[in-house]
Amino acid sequence: MSILAERLAERLGVPEDQLAFLPLAAAMHDIGKIGISDSILEKPGPLTADERTVMERHTTIGHDILSGSGSELLELAAEIALTHHERWDGSGYPNGLSRDGIPLPGRIAAVADVFDALTADRVYRGAFSEDEALRMMREGRGSHFDPDVLDTLFELVDEDAGRVSGA
Ligand SMILES: [Fe+2]
Repeated sequence: MSILAERLAERLGVPEDQLAFLPLAAAMHDIGKIGISDSILEKPGPLTADERTVMERHTTIGHDILSGSGSELLELAAEIALTHHERWDGSGYPNGLSRDGIPLPGRIAAVADVFDALTADRVYRGAFSEDEALRMMREGRGSHFDPDVLDTLFELVDEDAGRVSGA
């Protein structure tokens, strides 16, 4: 997830100084989960509404853990922890930010995180192929995901597969 986030950021013109911190900062996006009970984290089925509310706190917990040090790395990590579940159309959490109101590193982390999750094995399902994951994510273009970030993911995956991009 952090390598993918870095590659997306590089293409999307994230400034050099921030880019250097991005992989490590992105790797800490879910650090707030240390504040969430295992019964919720490891629950195989869908969460109840109450459990989801608790789960969503991993964003603010992560931000609280990481922010305030003045370290550029940790401040970027705090921003990503707080904003990686925001959605382009404003339907995400914890603050319901939308579009450019979501910091670019958060928009990048959202795309990298979901792609990573879909293409990994889970206790309750096997991994989706990259093509399947992209097909699923395409439905969230402009609603869940920043269209520019998502298009950049398509480009990267196409290039990695040796396919002609823009198809
Ligand atoms: Fe998360």
